[in-house]
Amino acid sequence: MTSISCILLLAFCSSALCTNFHGGDNLSALRRLQRKFVGDEERRNVSSERSELSELSAGLNEQTCAALPGVESILHNNTHSFTFKVRTMGLLSLAWVGDGSGVLLVLTTFQVPLFMMRFGQSNLYRSEDYGKTFKDVTHLINHTFIQSEFGIAISPDHSGKVMLTGDVSEIGGFKLFRSQDFGLTFDPTDLPFEPLIQMMYNPRDCNVLLTLSITLDLWLSEDFGATWRKIHDSVCLVRWGKKSSIYFTANYNGSCNDKGMLELRKTVDYGLSFQTIATRVYSFVLGGRFVFASIMTGTGTERMIHVSADGGEVWNMAQLPKVNHEQFYSILAANQDMIFMHVDNPGDSGVGTIYVSDDRGAVFSKSLERHLYTTTSSDTDFTAITSLRGVYMTSVLTEDDVVETVITFDQGAKWRPVRRPDNRQCDTETSTNRPNRCRLHIHASYSTTMKMNVPMLPLSQPSAVGLILAHGSVGDAESALSPDVYVSDNGGYSWLWALRGPHHYAILDSGGLLVAVEHTSSPVNQIKFSTDEGQCWHTYNFTSDPLYFSGMDSEPGSRSMNVSLWGYRNDFSKWVVITIDLRKLLTRNCTEGDYVAWLAHSTDPSGSIDGCVLGYKETFLRLRKESVCWNGRGYATTKKLSRCTCTMDDYHCDFGYHRPENSSECVEQEEMKGHPLEFCLNGTTEQLQTSGYRKIPGDQCEGGFQPERKETDLRKMCTSNALYPNSLTENSSLNTAVIVMVVIAILLTSAVAGVWLVKKYVCGGRFLVHRYSVMREHVEAAKIEGVDDIDPHYMETGKAQDNEDSDQDLIE
Ligand SMILES: *[C@@H]1O[C@H](CO)[C@@H](O)[C@H](O)[C@H]1NC(C)=O
Ligand SMILES: *[C@@H]1O[C@H](CO)[C@@H](O)[C@H](O)[C@H]1NC(C)=O
Ligand SMILES: *[C@@H]1O[C@H](CO)[C@@H](O)[C@H](O)[C@H]1NC(C)=O
Ligand SMILES: *[C@@H]1O[C@H](CO)[C@@H](O)[C@H](O)[C@H]1NC(C)=O
Ligand SMILES: *[C@@H]1O[C@H](CO)[C@@H](O)[C@H](O)[C@H]1NC(C)=O
Ligand SMILES: *[C@@H]1O[C@H](CO)[C@@H](O)[C@H](O)[C@H]1NC(C)=O
Ligand SMILES: *[C@@H]1O[C@H](CO)[C@@H](O)[C@H](O)[C@H]1NC(C)=O
Ligand SMILES: *[C@@H]1O[C@H](CO)[C@@H](O)[C@H](O)[C@H]1NC(C)=O
Ligand SMILES: *[C@@H]1O[C@H](CO)[C@@H](O)[C@H](O)[C@H]1NC(C)=O
Ligand SMILES: *[C@@H]1O[C@H](CO)[C@@H](O)[C@H](O)[C@H]1NC(C)=O
Repeated sequence: MTSISCILLLAFCSSALCTNFHGGDNLSALRRLQRKFVGDEERRNVSSERSELSELSAGLNEQTCAALPGVESILHNNTHSFTFKVRTMGLLSLAWVGDGSGVLLVLTTFQVPLFMMRFGQSNLYRSEDYGKTFKDVTHLINHTFIQSEFGIAISPDHSGKVMLTGDVSEIGGFKLFRSQDFGLTFDPTDLPFEPLIQMMYNPRDCNVLLTLSITLDLWLSEDFGATWRKIHDSVCLVRWGKKSSIYFTANYNGSCNDKGMLELRKTVDYGLSFQTIATRVYSFVLGGRFVFASIMTGTGTERMIHVSADGGEVWNMAQLPKVNHEQFYSILAANQDMIFMHVDNPGDSGVGTIYVSDDRGAVFSKSLERHLYTTTSSDTDFTAITSLRGVYMTSVLTEDDVVETVITFDQGAKWRPVRRPDNRQCDTETSTNRPNRCRLHIHASYSTTMKMNVPMLPLSQPSAVGLILAHGSVGDAESALSPDVYVSDNGGYSWLWALRGPHHYAILDSGGLLVAVEHTSSPVNQIKFSTDEGQCWHTYNFTSDPLYFSGMDSEPGSRSMNVSLWGYRNDFSKWVVITIDLRKLLTRNCTEGDYVAWLAHSTDPSGSIDGCVLGYKETFLRLRKESVCWNGRGYATTKKLSRCTCTMDDYHCDFGYHRPENSSECVEQEEMKGHPLEFCLNGTTEQLQTSGYRKIPGDQCEGGFQPERKETDLRKMCTSNALYPNSLTENSSLNTAVIVMVVIAILLTSAVAGVWLVKKYVCGGRFLVHRYSVMREHVEAAKIEGVDDIDPHYMETGKAQDNEDSDQDLIE
């Protein structure tokens, strides 16, 4: 539970202008925006849609739901309201310090850009009781203006280190405010340079920090920011690597725009010595135990991905298509064994192909075609479901230009459309048209970019086994006039229509309690909660004076029972936070009898390999739906593992082989028939003798299907990388060679889950842009190294902040 969580709110509209806030979304404008993506759904009747929306019900199974008695009186005593004295305009960032400490820091910044100068004001608030009360501690930072770009930097080790970057440029310079006691006291320190990016903690030792100055110098501090030393100049992009190593690209030509001419360098001793590990580098990224670099090939217009599994000593060309300067590569997810890589198609198609790697990161297999990933906004729906092993969701653009959600339960081996919930029918109008395509479409980043009415991305938590909350619509395309909330309790195999209309939602008490607040432009006074994984929802009116709701927040890690609702009231001038402690709702602790054994991935209870994924089954103890009790902060999921015998599903198709649709068997690719299977690794040609199967990296199956396979080193030199421009091309036929079809991959981790919404209200004839973002990291899961850091691609376009909550990294 790394405790970083931010709410950013921007209101570009003075309160005086916003007297009429009740208009809601202009549906016709919204519709126009969506037209391109809704397919047949366009014909939906807007007026009837709207009347449906106004009949909001608390739960869609209300008939079968028993009321919880005494909710109002119990919760009334546990509802705390706090009003900030600062204006709601500007930006509010929120950060949890520590894990289970209850400490919450809130920074508000208000900034007016004036010609050549900025006038800004910051206020700092601190809570020690999960947001119930706050103290204004602005004096601790001597009323210094804190740049909102840098916000609050919390150390990922829960040790209570906090760093704020203060801008005192009017008297010359920048200041750090450093705290090692959860923000109780701050030490001011002068910075000898002007920072360009936020301070980056060494994940191994949070006393060591890195940053870049605006003059592209790389600065390092080994004493938590007290003293700094410049270790390199002309640095473009920097990342912390394994074992306190630092990787960065440097230019010797004064410009980081000169991509493809950069040097990739590395230091393992905090800058005492450096090693150049690649040249002609376009960009690089660290993922899992791999270093990836895109390196210009001989002619200099195309790039090839190179991979090193040993920190840059030995490079191999990845068996991936080359891309030109308009295309990009992106790592979607990575772990110790393999990665998911998106390769953009040529042209501005907005789609590409997902490949999964082998355990060397070098030989890739095709996993999913027509994967939606727009070049313009760099948005993809790719989502790692953290509540069940092997599950990923994303969207494809079908041949007839319909956006469709697909899901995999075995780490990319097979993808399938998401099943329609039983309690939801398709509109007759659309289903008569294409009855076989009445499916559930899940809305993720792409929908929010398209300004659909989707306030949150899909939500899952490792501690809440099997649980997923997401916005979706049922129909034959990703239609979005009225996304509803759907819940899955088995990792996405089946779904339940849970709440009508868009909502903000959160998981509390490790899944024992779900809460939701309706997303609407009118004031709200009601929170909904469910103790049975979303089947029944109860309501509680938390205030008599409704609130314009901006966002909901609770301590990262989903173990909390305190949830905070942020917003403001009619005067638009003050932030209000209402924190509800739901602990008293659950009157008893859960005991043994409240849990029941549940086999994950079970689809065929009679089969012997039921539940087998990557060679093993997992049986969890899960809270019974009907149990109304408290898991508690110390709750840990209990699971039992058992090995499976090997079947074809435990194998990738090998190099030169592929799986025809609907088949488990691997067949030789036509174009490879009669050719020896050779590829280049470590500078020598490897010959492969295979029956078409290669065990998935990390698969633990035993016995059963054991096909033969042998790699022979032919002791023939070949070019396995393009690092040395003169020795190129002789082997290029192999680089572009055949990419093996469909594969599985191992990925037990997730990186960063982010939420991101842009919503427009019509206000006094002007647009009021209302931005809300929640950022959250799960560091307990071995995250992709450095991937959540700001990418230079975004810095150039001024989108640094947008990328912070991304779980992907472009390597272009
Ligand atoms: C909605 O927007 C459209 C086009 O922007 C405009 O013609 C229409 O009058 C608006 N409707 C309302 C209710 O504001
Ligand atoms: C939309 O629905 C309303 C009420 O259900 C109906 O009166 C109206 O004629 C419908 N409009 C269209 C274009 O179908
Ligand atoms: C709520 O608090 C009031 C006084 O603070 C007390 O009289 C009342 O019994 C409490 N109600 C519950 C349900 O605890
Ligand atoms: C606080 O800031 C003012 C100027 O804004 C400065 O004069 C004063 O010395 C600062 N105090 C501390 C303790 O840094
Ligand atoms: C910068 O790099 C380009 C491309 O390699 C080269 O042509 C040019 O001479 C370099 N300029 C300097 C000042 O080194
Ligand atoms: C709660 O608020 C809703 C309006 O948001 C109202 O219809 C309902 O009657 C209220 N319930 C109680 C118990 O006050
Ligand atoms: C809720 O907040 C209170 C402090 O106000 C704290 O004592 C309690 O532990 C919190 N509950 C949980 C489950 O985090
Ligand atoms: C419930 O569990 C908490 C710790 O999670 C413990 O402090 C408390 O005493 C327990 N209550 C009962 C009634 O067992
Ligand atoms: C694969 O199976 C699906 C459904 O079972 C079917 O619609 C499709 O036509 C099959 N494809 C092939 C190539 O057999
Ligand atoms: C490639 O070289 C590295 C380091 O020299 C070695 O660890 C690895 O096993 C080699 N791989 C192959 C396939 O020979």
